[in-house]
Amino acid sequence: FPVDRIRNFCIIAHIDHGKSTLADRLLEMTGAIAKTEKNKQVLDKLQVERERGITVKAQTASLFYNHEGQQYLLNLIDTPGHVDFSYEVSRSISACQGVLLIVDANQGIQAQTVANFYLAFEAQLTIIPVINKIDLKNADPERVESQIEKVFDIPREECIRISAKLGTNVDKVLQAVVNRIPPPQASTEDPFKALVFDSNFDHYRGVVANIAVFGGRVKKGDKIVSAHLGKAYEVNELGLLRPDEHPTQKLFAGQVGYIIAGMKDVKEAQIGDTLYLQEQPVEALPGFKPAKAMVFAGMYPMDQSEYTGLRSAIERLTLNDSSVTVQRDSSLALGAGWRLGFLGLLHMEVFNQRLEQEYNASVIVTAPTVPYKAVLSSAKLIKEHGSGEITIVNPAQFPDRSVVSEYLEPMVLGTILTPDVYTGKIMTLCLNRRAVQKNMVYIDDQRVMMKYLFPLNEIVVDFYDLLKSLSSGYASFDYENAGYQAADLIKMDILLNGRPVEELTTVVHRERAYSTGKAMCERLKDSIPRQMFEIAIQAAIGSKVISKYTTDYGGDITRKMKLLKKQAEGKKKMRRIGNVEVPKDAFISVLKRK
Ligand code: GTP
Repeated sequence: FPVDRIRNFCIIAHIDHGKSTLADRLLEMTGAIAKTEKNKQVLDKLQVERERGITVKAQTASLFYNHEGQQYLLNLIDTPGHVDFSYEVSRSISACQGVLLIVDANQGIQAQTVANFYLAFEAQLTIIPVINKIDLKNADPERVESQIEKVFDIPREECIRISAKLGTNVDKVLQAVVNRIPPPQASTEDPFKALVFDSNFDHYRGVVANIAVFGGRVKKGDKIVSAHLGKAYEVNELGLLRPDEHPTQKLFAGQVGYIIAGMKDVKEAQIGDTLYLQEQPVEALPGFKPAKAMVFAGMYPMDQSEYTGLRSAIERLTLNDSSVTVQRDSSLALGAGWRLGFLGLLHMEVFNQRLEQEYNASVIVTAPTVPYKAVLSSAKLIKEHGSGEITIVNPAQFPDRSVVSEYLEPMVLGTILTPDVYTGKIMTLCLNRRAVQKNMVYIDDQRVMMKYLFPLNEIVVDFYDLLKSLSSGYASFDYENAGYQAADLIKMDILLNGRPVEELTTVVHRERAYSTGKAMCERLKDSIPRQMFEIAIQAAIGSKVISKYTTDYGGDITRKMKLLKKQAEGKKKMRRIGNVEVPKDAFISVLKRK
């Protein structure tokens, strides 16, 4: 296929602005899927994606499109919209020359619109602004065009107004892809060179790598090498994604497709890696920054007899998601398990849900935490750790003040977009989260964009939910990492009947210890069902108890019997800590502030 008739592009947008719907329309119009199949969001394949209506894993499709008597090959890469998955967006972008930036005609520019725009802008891609949902009663495309002009400095004339739902003007989008996005700069004469921009693990065939061919050609039987590990493989199968795998004889420069070459582990086909022919070595492409885990939590089997099963489930799931980090861990109450690192809380929840749905595993997830750092002052400890600075991903191992000269916490720069009527409430919320305002501008006469520097631990669990609820769903939020800052942190223990529950240990800012401890105890009291005896719930710093509650016990005999029966039914979801039954979702729910 001639390179000058290839276009590689992705669709980026804030969540729910209609990426998947537009992708469906593009697939239908180019005949990749039938209109009659009642296909909805066919690119969202995972069960969690269908349930939550969000895209988690980017999917790719090659489309054939006839334009002015010539056939074009359009490679569309669908991307997820949520902040935790912006990593997927940046790798999709690196395989493209252009993007469709979708903005909802009613909601206008939102936080992820801004974040995604900058990813594309910094990669110097052609940006085609598309205003979607013009069929809505409250659609205001004029206003959105003004926002696009003001915030992104893109002339309003470049905007295309569409309804992905009804198909209105979707043909104009296809024309713009052909006319405005440049073809990839790649020549079939060059030695073969391809970028791995995604990879999946398939139980039967091993690793299926999605590649963008930057030069030359590759065919079945070729001997290829992955630059990162320097290992050689024989190509078993390759082809286009339309969006299902469509085997072909060869892949050429400029094309996007999949390749299977007997790799047993996604680590062998790392995202950002370069593939080349064994007889024609080339210099590796620059690749990507590895994704950095920002939220850590312990994961334990409900019952130690399920340990091996859970281990293999975690192994298989991480085969597909190289951004998850795994370390073995153990706890007195929960036994042997793991400490996993995720890109964010949603990433963690999705991982957990996939473990339960796809692998039928039953998991206890402990309170999530961010990676803190401590600068050690004790010579003995420095020697033990081989470094003066340690990273702590498990609050139970948080070192005592007496051996530390300084604690550091991870910071993020957050962007909030909101109708201006909510700015007061939002500023109060941010202040309560120890945030510092960096910037505030009006993007039109009613909408405000604010930037805040937040400690990550203040937004990890529940910030987003609160922001949404106090703005009736109108405010949006996104963030990027902003390094570390010194902070006055302390470790807080939660005790049940005098016994510390390691899984509920948290690190808090000193100023916030009292209120956080009180709130955690209250919520724990509400989430522990009545048992046969009283339970004392305490929050403590060192040996000092800062908050204390006692639960009622079950009452008379008949009630006790009912209680026992009810508990037996709920058993699978309960976890015994000492002599107390704790619901398995309590670990996360006690951290959520009202
Ligand atoms: P994520 O994958 O979760 O990031 O969302 P998305 O951007 O892919 O959005 P999706 O295509 O799932 O659309 C979100 C909602 O908007 C769905 O309920 C769609 O039916 C609806 N929608 C999409 N396009 C249009 C449109 O042109 N008009 C109207 N009225 N609704 C639309």
